[in-house]
Amino acid sequence: MPEIRAVRWNGEAIVLIDQTRLPDEEVSVVCDTVDATVDAIVRLVVRGAPALGAVGGYGVAVAMLQGQRENWDAAEVQGGIDKIRNARPTAVNLAWGVDRVRPLVPSGVEAVLAEADRIAAEDEAANRELSRKGADWILANTTQRPLRVLTHCNTGSLATTAWGTALGIVRELHERGEVEVVHADETRPLLQGSRLTSWELTHDGIPHVVQADSAAASTILRGLIDVAIIGADRIARNGDTANKIGSVGVALACADAGVPFVVAAPSSTVDLATQSGEDIEIELRDGSEITAFAGKRVAPDAAAGYNPAFDVTPARLISAIVTERGVVEPAPDSTVESLVAEEMKA
Ligand code: MRU
Repeated sequence: MPEIRAVRWNGEAIVLIDQTRLPDEEVSVVCDTVDATVDAIVRLVVRGAPALGAVGGYGVAVAMLQGQRENWDAAEVQGGIDKIRNARPTAVNLAWGVDRVRPLVPSGVEAVLAEADRIAAEDEAANRELSRKGADWILANTTQRPLRVLTHCNTGSLATTAWGTALGIVRELHERGEVEVVHADETRPLLQGSRLTSWELTHDGIPHVVQADSAAASTILRGLIDVAIIGADRIARNGDTANKIGSVGVALACADAGVPFVVAAPSSTVDLATQSGEDIEIELRDGSEITAFAGKRVAPDAAAGYNPAFDVTPARLISAIVTERGVVEPAPDSTVESLVAEEMKA
């Protein structure tokens, strides 16, 4: 089965699988301007922290090429790059991708694109490695075989440059013959679980069910889940982890039931400059994503929607944090510094 590529560069522009249209339609969106790139990020045409990191890198080239076409001065190019960097606040990878590539602007578009390509290639390699390490940890810390896995949101190929993080671990476990069933939380309000995770699991032939987010705690407490595996948008220095809204409820139920709760992410998602979860900005999206469903209003006209896109799971509720560099089991007063490379600690 060919690998799904959510983010590509076609020589002139970023090409994205339009994740707002899945699973009904498999169509692409081409981003050759800053505004088109920002719009794709804001509307979740592309989403998932590592995928946003790659878009941040290629987005620098988009701003430079638009600047060449439209005779922008250097300040206008930098302003365009900033717009992309700030399009969504919670996933650190977006700013990280921009910041890694931006210093190469004076060296020209080719140098910028080479670095963006490196981000994409490193992300795939990191995801494959963290998947092996995560699968090893899970098999060493669970007894039920084959495993019944719960996951939340979408963390597969669509959310990364390839393979996936939490879903990458699921794929690795499946390849080892260790998965009985995956419970995919549907992920309200925008259904990344039912629309995207189920699409990817179907693509890979991995047995699964889609369940309402509100079924997760009960499923865990009734003994139907052996391990929960989620991704991350930002991992603070103390291990507190921001991820899709609903993640902390899964973690609380796992802690009560004694079920391992595993966070998986490439080291680019670890943000040592953020001390704890309290310092993570949580994106507040438009309330209409809650008060309407599939374009139809489902609350009284007067009702306002409250729509935080992410929550923070405290490190004390996390059994293991996995990156390509290794596994940390958070403990009081510990940090996750060992999960990032020396150059990222600076
Ligand atoms: O709003 P989204 O769809 O971008 O949220 C994505 C998540 O919360 C993912 O779990 C996270 O980015 C990790 S993706 C490997």
